[in-house]
Formats: sequence, structure tokens, C-alpha cells
Amino acid sequence: MLRTPLLAAARSPRTRALVEQLPPTRALVQRFVAGDTLDQAVAVTDELVGAGRRISLDHLGEDTSDADQAAATATAYERLLAALRETGLAERAEVSVKLSAVGQSLARDGERIALDNARRICEAAAVAGTTVTLDMEDHTTTDSTLGIARELRADFPWLGVVLQAYLHRTEADCADLAGAGSRVRLCKGAYQEPASVAHQAKAEVDRAYVRCLKTLMQGEGYPMVASHDPRLIRIAGQLAQWQERKADTFEYQMLYGIRPEEQQRLVDTGATMRIYLPYGGEWYGYFMRRLAERPANLAFFLRALATR
Ligand code: FDA
Repeated sequence: MLRTPLLAAARSPRTRALVEQLPPTRALVQRFVAGDTLDQAVAVTDELVGAGRRISLDHLGEDTSDADQAAATATAYERLLAALRETGLAERAEVSVKLSAVGQSLARDGERIALDNARRICEAAAVAGTTVTLDMEDHTTTDSTLGIARELRADFPWLGVVLQAYLHRTEADCADLAGAGSRVRLCKGAYQEPASVAHQAKAEVDRAYVRCLKTLMQGEGYPMVASHDPRLIRIAGQLAQWQERKADTFEYQMLYGIRPEEQQRLVDTGATMRIYLPYGGEWYGYFMRRLAERPANLAFFLRALATR
């Protein structure tokens, strides 16, 4: 019931100004975000890698409003990748990129600008010896994102892409992207989407997730199981077993701050476990989507407000 207004608030500049000023916001944001700076992101990465996790770092930002800002985001990623190389963390840490943060939503030449900036990031990742995964945003960007991914994969075959199980189209996209060398991060989907393009009921989304996962596990690519859902994690393990996949031929992924005990349990079983680790000052949209996913997060936030 609260999901719709929270996701609408995630896109509202007025609500953003209000939420950013609320005193308890910072404490809760810290649960999901590594910090504002590159140094903080590298320090948390180092700690998590030391605890057996792989990492995918996200320099926070979305809906960039001009080309200079888009280029500055690409530069921030280049710095991040250089730091991962210098600290020796690049072997275990990659980056995730939202194409809207590097220009995709700009009215003029948005796609070309995003492609050029994403190419810069891929080049820096190649130098560092790591990989890049393209996040997926709302359904109006899916074709554009998959098109850009296709172009980049010609030069960077290790480029990964996110698919969202809630979209009706995704079973077909999984079949297209289940070939050798392909890396697909399968998630449920975090945006407010109409029934014309996306399953609405949780049970339907979960069933679609399993069908998509079956296709990816049966394929020759590298499936990345991005979910905290205990049932889906169990099914993923069974599917991997049926396909006789070894631990280094697929991985589990979770968001920083969510179900850390389960992350540890999976590490202890010998599974590959990657944490999606956001950092930077532009945390608002990311934070609101995390609140929308779980009413308990919102209740915690409101309780903290009330007790001040
Ligand atoms: P579900 O929402 O059913 O949650 C299952 C259980 O997990 C809950 O019962 C709770 O215990 C725990 N949980 C889930 N969310 C929580 C939260 N916010 N706080 C605390 N506990 C929580 N989406 C997208 O549209 N585009 C993208 O590019 C990505 N990228 C991405 C990367 C990675 C690595 C992950 C794990 C997820 C994404 N997502 C995403 C988000 C994804 O689409 C989805 O919204 C969330 O993962 C929540 O869905 P679950 O599969 O975890 O199941």
C-alpha cells in the first residue's frame, strides 16, 4: 500500500529536499550506503572483501540533467576503478552503472552521451582488470539500455546487464542473453510499473523470477542471482545443482545492509556472494526505493522521527 507513494516520492524534488533535512535520515542511510566519499567506499570494500565477499560498487546518481554532470560521473567511476586497481581490490570488486547517471535521459543526444561515457568506464575497468554491470531502470529505458549493452559487448564481452523479472518481456530477454560469455544479474525489479508491462502481484513476480532463472541456469552464461528472498535463494541453489554448476559459474548478490547473516551463511557454504555497495552524496532515489521495498524500514524511520 505504501510502495506507490514512496516510489512516487523517490522522484519528487520537493520530498527530496524535505527528507534530506530530517535528522534521523543520515543514520538510516548509513545502513544502506558506504559513505559520501571514495575513501569511505574503498574502506568498506576492503572490509567486506576481507570477510569473503565480492563487491559491485555503485557511484550514486541518476537522472543527470546535463552533459557535464554526466561526464563528471564517468570521471568519478574512472577514479574509483583506478583506486580499486591500486589497492589490489579490483580482483574482487567491480562496478555497477546506471545509464541515466551518465546521460541516457538527456533530451539531446542522451543515448550517444551515455554510450560514450559508459565506454570510458568500461575502458577503465579493462585497465583495472575488472568488470562493469549496467543497472536497469524503469521500463521506458529497457530497450535503450539493452541496445547500449549490445554495442559495448562487442568490445567488452564481459559487460553484465540487469534484467527485471517483473517485466513481461524478461523471459524472452533471458533466453536472448543466456549464451556463452553473457553475465546477467536477475532481480525482481524496484520501480512502479503499469500492468501493461509488468506483473503486479508478488506471487506472479516470484514465479516469473523462477522461470527466468531456469533459463539462465540452463544456459551457458554466468547467472547473477540478485535477491534476498529465502525461497528464491533456495530454488537458485537447487537449479544450480541440477545443472551441475560449480560455485564459480554463478553467484548470489545482495544489497549492502540487507540480510548480512544470510550473506555470511552463503559465503560459508562456499558460494560466490557479491554485495552491491552504493556510495556518494546522491543517495535519495536509492534510499527511497529501499524504504518502498520493506515497510519495516519505513516504520524504523518514522519511529526515529517520533522519538526526537
Ligand atoms: P523481496 O522484496 O520479496 O524481499 C525478500 C526479503 O528480503 C524480505 O522479506 C526482507 O527480509 C528482505 N528485504 C528485501 N528488501 C529489503 C530492504 N529494502 N530492506 C530490508 N530487508 C529487505 N532493481 C532494479 O529495478 N534495477 C536494478 O538494476 C537492480 N539492481 C539490484 C542489484 C542487486 C545486487 C540486488 C540485490 C537488487 C537489485 N535491485 C534492482 C532491486 C530488486 O529489484 C528488488 O527491488 C530488491 O532486491 C528486493 O527484492 P527481493 O528479491 O530481495 O525480494
